[in-house]
Amino acid sequence: MNIIDSKTPYRSRGFYVRMRLFHNPRYSRNPEKSFWYRFFKWILWFSLAFYFFSSFLITHTTPTTFISKAIVSPSKASRALIEESSFKSSTLQEPKSPQGTQKVLSFFNILILLPGNNRLLSHDFISGLLKGMKVYIYDMPSKYNSDWLSNERCSNHLFASEVAIHKALMNSDVRTLEPRDADFFFVPVYVSCNFSKVNGFPDIGHARPLISSAVQYISTQLPFWNRSHGSDHVFVASHDFGSCFHTMEDVAMADGVPELLRNSIILQTFGVKYKHPCQDVENVVIPPYVSPEDVRSTLEKSPLTGRREIFAFFRGKMEVHPKNISGRFYSKRLRTVIWQKYGNNRRFYLRRHRLAGYQSEIANSIFCLAPLGWAPWSPRLVESVVLGCVPVIIADGIRLPFPSAVPWAEISLTVAEKDVKKLGKILEHVAATNLTTIQKNLWDPNVRTALLFNNPMEEGDATFQVLVALSEKLDRSHKRSKVLSQ
Ligand SMILES: *[C@@H]1O[C@H](CO)[C@@H](O)[C@H](O)[C@H]1NC(C)=O
Ligand SMILES: *[C@@H]1O[C@H](CO)[C@@H](O)[C@H](O)[C@H]1NC(C)=O
Ligand SMILES: *[C@@H]1O[C@H](CO)[C@@H](O)[C@H](O)[C@H]1NC(C)=O
Ligand SMILES: *[C@@H]1O[C@H](CO)[C@@H](O)[C@H](O)[C@H]1NC(C)=O
Repeated sequence: MNIIDSKTPYRSRGFYVRMRLFHNPRYSRNPEKSFWYRFFKWILWFSLAFYFFSSFLITHTTPTTFISKAIVSPSKASRALIEESSFKSSTLQEPKSPQGTQKVLSFFNILILLPGNNRLLSHDFISGLLKGMKVYIYDMPSKYNSDWLSNERCSNHLFASEVAIHKALMNSDVRTLEPRDADFFFVPVYVSCNFSKVNGFPDIGHARPLISSAVQYISTQLPFWNRSHGSDHVFVASHDFGSCFHTMEDVAMADGVPELLRNSIILQTFGVKYKHPCQDVENVVIPPYVSPEDVRSTLEKSPLTGRREIFAFFRGKMEVHPKNISGRFYSKRLRTVIWQKYGNNRRFYLRRHRLAGYQSEIANSIFCLAPLGWAPWSPRLVESVVLGCVPVIIADGIRLPFPSAVPWAEISLTVAEKDVKKLGKILEHVAATNLTTIQKNLWDPNVRTALLFNNPMEEGDATFQVLVALSEKLDRSHKRSKVLSQ
């Protein structure tokens, strides 16, 4: 696999188009060639002049949006530019780049890449939908959120999307300080940061009282909760069983979603394709939090397309003698089966103990097992994808985050729970047939971006995907329903 090819698909595809243009036999006869050459040059000059003229007009008439803040690389710039050129009415705008060269580069990208790139066009469509959506963020007393940050783990552990989304929204241009202009109201309560359990896991026993106290607070301070009974209010529930706020499924199911939140929108890591009490509420499945900085530093040491020495990898809890906990077994005993069947298999690298450097193991593996634990999801889903290891999802009925941005079926393998004993054969078969295809899809930078929460938010990243999902629920916006009924 060619590194250039996988890292810069748009540019290289453009190159391909250009090569084809010039290698077409029709253009190889001399007189015609010089005609085409002059014609093409002329078109380029004209378009460039037009581009600079129009970009001057645009930069001097419209306000900056979050898109422009997110621009960091020429390839991203080009996408923003394409959005701009096909959404004349939108407020999207190209970056104020000090370097003319970047503009020229981006411009060439548009010219060469526009034909047939569906991904870019659907991205335009999405940005168009986001246009104008505004989110108000409640200013809560620090006991609901920032107090918890005194423990550094609060903003870094696998449930930290509750913190990451809050921070990213605070710095984004969809934020409005005027609640009357808002389509949605974000309630920043960090419920996963009470690390008082002996095993170091957060105690979410206080989640329900903390949230009801928060709702009590916002509903007396401002009229917006009462106005909609919370239906345009957004919460994050990033732990095991999401909006049920309990770590054990049977208790979670018995408790259900707190009465108070049943009208609201919950961003939660938990999601299944079948009916389940913990998703009996308007919800968006979000990825668990993995620190983008950690991922970046791992990838610096072991590049995505580098050599991968481990065939199949798993590090995590695998009970040798699974405990019966009120009728339920961890991982439905599947991890025990994996340990028993493949623990001594030369091609499987299975480890039962934690290790700080496990990200580099993932980056060095071809297949990374992501079996269910107590809940169907796990941080391994995200870690494998962003580190380029094909996730092997073993969790029947799991609903995965952002299906419109992440083509899960093309970048991962799903193994039915009942087939876990055939895991070895299944992986060998894929390695001999379509592994390269899956890896090529997996290494698309857009996929990686969609699963990471950055601060500030970046175009296409996980917070951006949350906003896309919210923009599909604008029928809940009080502001818009008023406009419509007038
Ligand atoms: C953390 O959780 C424990 C156990 O549920 C509880 O006793 C304690 O009050 C919580 N701490 C805070 C600051 O809420
Ligand atoms: C919202 O309703 C509650 C309960 O009816 C009430 O106590 C509260 O004062 C109301 N809030 C506002 C801002 O009017
Ligand atoms: C697990 O324990 C429950 C009682 O808590 C019991 O009813 C059930 O039969 C046990 N299951 C197995 C497979 O041992
Ligand atoms: C790869 O092959 C496996 C097993 O034959 C199949 O289940 C999977 O859908 C294929 N994936 C892709 C992306 O072709």
